[in-house]
Amino acid sequence: MKTGNERGSSFIRQCRGRLIGVLALGALAACRRSPEVAEFAGSYPKEASPDGTVHELRLVAAPSQVALFDGRPFDVWAYNSQVPGPTFRVRLGDTLRVTFTNNLPQPTTVHWHGVRVPNAMDGVPGVTQAPVAAGETFVYEFTPKDAGTFWFHPHLRSSEQVERGLFGVLIVEDATPPPYSRDELWVLDDWLLTPQGELFPEFNTRRDLAHDGRWGNFVTVNGRSTPRFAMAPGERVRLRLLNVANGRVFAPDFSALDVKVIAVDGLYTARPLSLSGFELAPGNRLDLDITIPPDVAGQRFPVVDRFTRREIPLAEIAVEGSRVETPAFDSPARSHVPPWRRSAEETGVRAEFKLNARSGGPFGIQWTINDVAMDHATHALPENRPHFPIGEFSRLRFVNESYRIHPMHIHGMFFKVLARNGTPVDEPHFRDTVLVHPKETLEIGTVAEDPGRWMLHCHILEHAESGMMTVVEVR
Ligand code: C2O
Ligand code: CU
Repeated sequence: MKTGNERGSSFIRQCRGRLIGVLALGALAACRRSPEVAEFAGSYPKEASPDGTVHELRLVAAPSQVALFDGRPFDVWAYNSQVPGPTFRVRLGDTLRVTFTNNLPQPTTVHWHGVRVPNAMDGVPGVTQAPVAAGETFVYEFTPKDAGTFWFHPHLRSSEQVERGLFGVLIVEDATPPPYSRDELWVLDDWLLTPQGELFPEFNTRRDLAHDGRWGNFVTVNGRSTPRFAMAPGERVRLRLLNVANGRVFAPDFSALDVKVIAVDGLYTARPLSLSGFELAPGNRLDLDITIPPDVAGQRFPVVDRFTRREIPLAEIAVEGSRVETPAFDSPARSHVPPWRRSAEETGVRAEFKLNARSGGPFGIQWTINDVAMDHATHALPENRPHFPIGEFSRLRFVNESYRIHPMHIHGMFFKVLARNGTPVDEPHFRDTVLVHPKETLEIGTVAEDPGRWMLHCHILEHAESGMMTVVEVR
């Protein structure tokens, strides 16, 4: 806990830095108006710190056949012929140079979800780059600014392309990774299969659009159905959960195991948190710290999803083998998260986003933000783009006027939830995606540090495809 004095002095430090840089009285006034900016100091870096290591990586998107579910061959679209796609694991400070080739029968792009990349590397067709046509190549190069669990996927016709199997993982390790016994990744997904076991071939159906997107009838972890993971008694495991489903939300439950959340959407939380109450919406990541008790050899711990009324088995942790020494170290979850306690009346609201639907458009239903449906295919930027000044605090408000759920995602920045239906909430962590419930009004705060045109959209891919996207300008 910071005392009032400490908070005051870091505020003055922040202001002094600005004054020296700008030497304008206006800067002091701006600083005085924004205690939120002072509280934000130390949350995450403005700039990347490249250490000179460059990973030359190759990524190819193409139709492919892979062994999925219980091992039978299945027609997919895949990155590097794998589903899930490759995991790129780098250290903080490393640079990625990814030579991407599109061998799909249609254009695509690669978006690096949650990674604060230079705007031109963000992979958004018509906004940050031209679509990569069939047969073409594009080089994505960036140095991540934050350590954590991220992922990548197409940003064009994503409701079809992601569903067919195009998604991969980017893990950015800390400069000195905490000494877990092991570091595991579970990619959660669902598939809509026909009775013959093929991928249901129609996308963006009226049914998907009128509901919460395409929910599958077959749930997988790392492409397999209820896989078993062996862990040794005493092991301390970092387990990274990622939801790549088009629409399904998961609420994972690890039965009797003691599980702590240490990172949300990549960034470490302010302290270890209980998993109960967390919703893993499409796009979200949760990093867990799990210690297998030393005395449970031979036991099995089912992991189930409890988001819907019908509980769904996800996986099983089987404790076997001989006991290992539990690595003892402090939880890495102790990052700085600003309190941002002032109300909307005190801070003002920079932009409000009304979420709703109407009939019309190519699919019969359009999902809208402030009554506008955006279409990537037309390459048209929305006309009224909210402007977030760099380095300043912005309070935003989502007003869900519909009866469906909307996991709202913003590119290029992290944000913190400040209020739900007018009641302040103090989430001790940042996020890049938040589930807005039916008829809910939600307020979030952010300090945008990275200039450019950034997407703000629903991560239910059918909602996004039918219009629920917009662009914000940071400058
Ligand atoms: Cu993972 Cu614009 O999204
Ligand atoms: Cu939505």
